[in-house]
Amino acid sequence: MTILIKHANEVITLKSNAKGPRTREKMREIAVIENGSVLIEEDRIIAVGAFEQLAVDFPDLVKKADTIDASGKIVMPGLVDCHTHLVHGGTREQEFNMRLNGSTYMEIMNAGGGIHATTKRTRETSFEDLYAKSMQHLDVFLKHGVTTVEAKSGYGLDWETEKKQLEVAKKLQATHDVDVVSTFMGAHAVPRDYKGREDVFVDIVIHDMLPKVAELHLAEFNDVFCEKGVFTPAQSQRILEAGKALGLTPKIHADEIEPYKGAELAAKVGAISAEHLLVASDEGIQRMAEAGTIAVLLPGTAFFLRAPFARGRLMIDKGVPVAISTDFNPGSSPTLSLPFIMNLACMHMGMTLEEVLTATTINAAYALNRGEQIGSLEAEKQADVVILDVANYKQLQYFYGMNHTNTVIKNGRIVVRDGILLN
Ligand code: NIG
Ligand code: FE
Repeated sequence: MTILIKHANEVITLKSNAKGPRTREKMREIAVIENGSVLIEEDRIIAVGAFEQLAVDFPDLVKKADTIDASGKIVMPGLVDCHTHLVHGGTREQEFNMRLNGSTYMEIMNAGGGIHATTKRTRETSFEDLYAKSMQHLDVFLKHGVTTVEAKSGYGLDWETEKKQLEVAKKLQATHDVDVVSTFMGAHAVPRDYKGREDVFVDIVIHDMLPKVAELHLAEFNDVFCEKGVFTPAQSQRILEAGKALGLTPKIHADEIEPYKGAELAAKVGAISAEHLLVASDEGIQRMAEAGTIAVLLPGTAFFLRAPFARGRLMIDKGVPVAISTDFNPGSSPTLSLPFIMNLACMHMGMTLEEVLTATTINAAYALNRGEQIGSLEAEKQADVVILDVANYKQLQYFYGMNHTNTVIKNGRIVVRDGILLN
């Protein structure tokens, strides 16, 4: 199929001659083409530019293309949500109510709720039910313009359930239009029956689970919740190094609730990203900038836990490449709206409109090791393209709390039209 998107008010290309995640002022260079067009054939972008130029360069393709008139609208790359806990059983609105009445997130978790509650529900939920529920979540993501989603395991904490979660993600990748990228997170919490024997569980993750994940090709990344009362930096390092030796790229839930030198650890082990970083230290931010570690910031979690927001502005100014994501999960961020999260990043982390667009497209793509395939509108890249019903990109966050997605093209196929999911 050949598609020509014509006469968009703005095409936000995110094009750059430099490779790698964007930093500092490069995060503001979103390379807008006014009155722009995008030419797509099969699953690839052929060209982006003025219609008149495309008609000269690709006359045959332009002639046979199905044309979408995008006048009055803007066009941008499909959004990339690079940190989610997509596959899980149950919901936790009861805990939300407890928190509104004064309990804290960690108190609830230490009393057997939190991650433990979702672990219990995920163990009890069948593969089929987890799959059906996650398919619905992916539909909502897609309607919000998200075309690639990362999915972490970590609500099994035993091999059987971790494997079930990862296999659900694999089937989602094979059957849903949204691309699903898998991360193993067996070290998401210490199971309750291992309390006081944390190192025994760490050994199980390292010697039992990780080799099976690698052997069965169930994940690309290996993540750990490095947090006081969960996994220490030393335990986290062992788990991440073990994964690395098996070909799994390290990620880390770092400095979310208490400062714990998680950012420093991410830089030290060469993690592709450190995620959360609400209370990351100056030193840790410096180390990340030097190492090129991507900061995956999740302002929805700070919002929903009423915790301090990560210092996004400072991180960018210090040279850390920043990505933004929902952290979709049933405890600390039960939202499927990346556009809402982008708004929080502007309002509470001091990020500009342009930086937020970079953080949810090309930088998020690099956080999933896919920066050369997706995240910008450039010739040869995968045709993941979104058309939004706003007159310019500044309106995206100005008209906040709404979904402006009009059309989604995924791998060169129209999958959302007029805001409605096509089958
Ligand atoms: O990213 N911090 C740990 N994990 C999730 C929360 C998981 C949960 O509460 O179920 C997070 O915030
Ligand atoms: Fe998370």
